[in-house]
Amino acid sequence: MDESNRVAAIDPDKPHPARRYNYWLGGKDHFAADRASGDEFERILGPGVRIGVRVNRDLLRRAVRYLAAEEGIRQFLDIGTGLPTADNTHEVAQSVAPESRVLYVDNDPLVLAHARALLTSSAEGKTAYVEADLRDPDAILQNPALADTLDLTQPVALILVAVLHFIPGHGAAQPIVRRLMDTLPAGSFLVVTHATTDFVPPEIAAAHQKMYDEGRSDIWARDKKEVTALFEGLELIEPGIVPNSEWRPEPDAPEVDLRHVAGWTGVGRKGTS
Ligand SMILES: C[S@@+](CC[C@H](N)C(=O)[O-])C[C@H]1O[C@@H](n2cnc3c(N)ncnc32)[C@H](O)[C@@H]1O
Repeated sequence: MDESNRVAAIDPDKPHPARRYNYWLGGKDHFAADRASGDEFERILGPGVRIGVRVNRDLLRRAVRYLAAEEGIRQFLDIGTGLPTADNTHEVAQSVAPESRVLYVDNDPLVLAHARALLTSSAEGKTAYVEADLRDPDAILQNPALADTLDLTQPVALILVAVLHFIPGHGAAQPIVRRLMDTLPAGSFLVVTHATTDFVPPEIAAAHQKMYDEGRSDIWARDKKEVTALFEGLELIEPGIVPNSEWRPEPDAPEVDLRHVAGWTGVGRKGTS
């Protein structure tokens, strides 16, 4: 473990996104407060929430496989990693190219406590974990683990999957994404999934907004226009900004009701100019 990692206290009384996500995925690393928060989301938004998180996780796997297999990417900066579960980024990338290198970043101390399960790199590749906050991209970029793990003269895929909606505020996510992408060389990629209420009826969107306003949701939903703006200056890979389930689905993938998907996906490439 990198000694520069800061170990924050685990607060079991406050719901945290990584643990709630783990609960919805059927994992076992969550506390009562995370389950209560997860159950409230399901009460307000409907039981499709669990379908949505699986669809999101499937997207992560498809996007990493696409980048490794089709675009030859061998380096990944995965911020908002989540608790280790099936098909972590390095496992997917290294199944295509064992020399793949992955730096994981998350701000949840419980993820740090479980990070050992992410440090199971192939002998040819490398993985590392840093506890840091996406709201301070420079701290991530200056962490010695970054230079130890990734060669910033070679393309890197920046993975921001289901994390930017924890950066609240109109226009608040864009400068962070830009700061990170500006540091990566031409040929690098950006992968984003982002929660949205674009697919649900207005009354459900309003119920979620009420939860947010009352401090019972930490998810700042963005619409397609705002998610598209995150890719300014990048070339969008086909099929562009689409619901998570519709980004290069497996041929036999069952159709999913978009109300359950509740997320936009985009993958963009940084060009030379
Ligand atoms: C919903 S999970 C997504 C996990 C994984 N990316 C996936 O899609 O399967 C969101 C993760 O982002 C992390 N997170 C939330 N806000 C963050 C921040 N400001 N900085 C770093 N990580 C953050 C949470 O701790 C959690 O692990």
